[in-house]
Amino acid sequence: MENLNGKQRDNWGSRLGFVMAAAGSAVGLGNIWRFPYTTGENGGSAFIIIYLVFVFVIGLSVMTAELAVGRRTQLAAVGAFKKYSNRWTFAGVLGVISAFFIMGFYPVVGGWAMAYVVKTFTGLLSNASAVGDSFGAFISAPIEPLFWFILFLLANVVIVIKGISGGIEKAGKILMPTLFVLFIFLAIRSVTLEGAGAGLEFLFKPDFSKVTGETFLAALGQAFFSLSLGMGCMITYGSYLSKKENLPQNALIVTTLDTAVAILAGIAIFPALFAFNMEPAAGPGLVFVVVPTIFAQMGALGYLFSAVFFVALTVAALTSSVSLLEVVVSYLIDQKNMERKPAVILTVVIMGIFGIFASLSMGVLGDVKILGVIFFDFLDILTDKIFLAIGGMLLAIFVGWVVKKEDLQDELTNSGTVKFGLFNVWYNLVKYVIPFAVAIIAVAGIISITETGLMLFGLAVIAVLVLVSKKL
Ligand code: PHE
Repeated sequence: MENLNGKQRDNWGSRLGFVMAAAGSAVGLGNIWRFPYTTGENGGSAFIIIYLVFVFVIGLSVMTAELAVGRRTQLAAVGAFKKYSNRWTFAGVLGVISAFFIMGFYPVVGGWAMAYVVKTFTGLLSNASAVGDSFGAFISAPIEPLFWFILFLLANVVIVIKGISGGIEKAGKILMPTLFVLFIFLAIRSVTLEGAGAGLEFLFKPDFSKVTGETFLAALGQAFFSLSLGMGCMITYGSYLSKKENLPQNALIVTTLDTAVAILAGIAIFPALFAFNMEPAAGPGLVFVVVPTIFAQMGALGYLFSAVFFVALTVAALTSSVSLLEVVVSYLIDQKNMERKPAVILTVVIMGIFGIFASLSMGVLGDVKILGVIFFDFLDILTDKIFLAIGGMLLAIFVGWVVKKEDLQDELTNSGTVKFGLFNVWYNLVKYVIPFAVAIIAVAGIISITETGLMLFGLAVIAVLVLVSKKL
């Protein structure tokens, strides 16, 4: 298929291939590492309810919109916006910047997961009560995590250089189902531990007294992050999608899978956490501490499961990070006429530099604060709490007010050959409800959040992008 630049466009090999790749992008550290600890920090069940509402009302609609724009234009994020109006280029570029920033810390955590495969066999499980301390010591060391980070980044290079159907698709197809099965097993193990009931209560018995403006922003940011939205990733993946596919249906499948994995991760982690008398608000170390502790109490079998778990976590992270990398790479290919290989290498070198600082900020550079936070958190908070939410809002405004309604209907029904009964509901949500909802949540969150300087910085970056948009 030809896109607007007259270049051949790679296509997904099969239906299952796309669903797996898109689900692969969505399911990742966001579900398994971030969702549990964000839930823990935000008080549990009430956060989860708000999260679920955001996922299925806002997230699903935005995903449908992103896929439609991508396939309609046959262009990745920046090109897709630009095709309609030069003034909108900035929204695509914001996505590319988000991808860069997320890739500045995401592979660091991917590296931790990789390291834990090996650590399974080098003493990690021999003393259940030392798992927490050894995690802290590991991530704050200067060299070891860097080694794993670089290895993880190199794995990305190998996959993305091969192009869409060659690398990303194959990896996703085999390993996503493995992960799913493993989580079902872990969840069963966790809820059958003695004292697990308190964890289930924490997850499912709503306590709205803990809800603040920040809870809503955290839930919204997590929804966008987990579904890979608000930064052009699904636009890019949609642009590789065949004209025969039913977009709303695909969006629903991916959203449901992603949410199922997050909830499963919660069920795997919290009952065990309460059974072991650990702290729900323990932060980013949660999976790396709770899960090995479960395995450490399982004898020899624990070694096998731990190894498989961290391999699966690594792969889940990998199928997500390649999609982030692809956003930047396809921008360079589509807009800057670069070849794939140099585009990948250039991008990864810059991401590598970001990641080195992010990793070191967990230890030796821990005192260096940017706008009040360490570099790792700077990248994380900036993308998750501002760029993705605003990116999602911009996309909704763009689709609701710039793209023609008939074009959207045509794209979402494959020119009238498949049914999308909720088209009008979707359209009105995207046009009227989502832009306002996101704006209100963002404002409420930004007011109640402690990192005010960082928030203002994020908004300033977006303002600058708007001003220079003609040059992008
Ligand atoms: N959705 C991925 C995860 O949950 C992260 C991601 C964010 C990937 C944005 C692509 C774009 O881990």
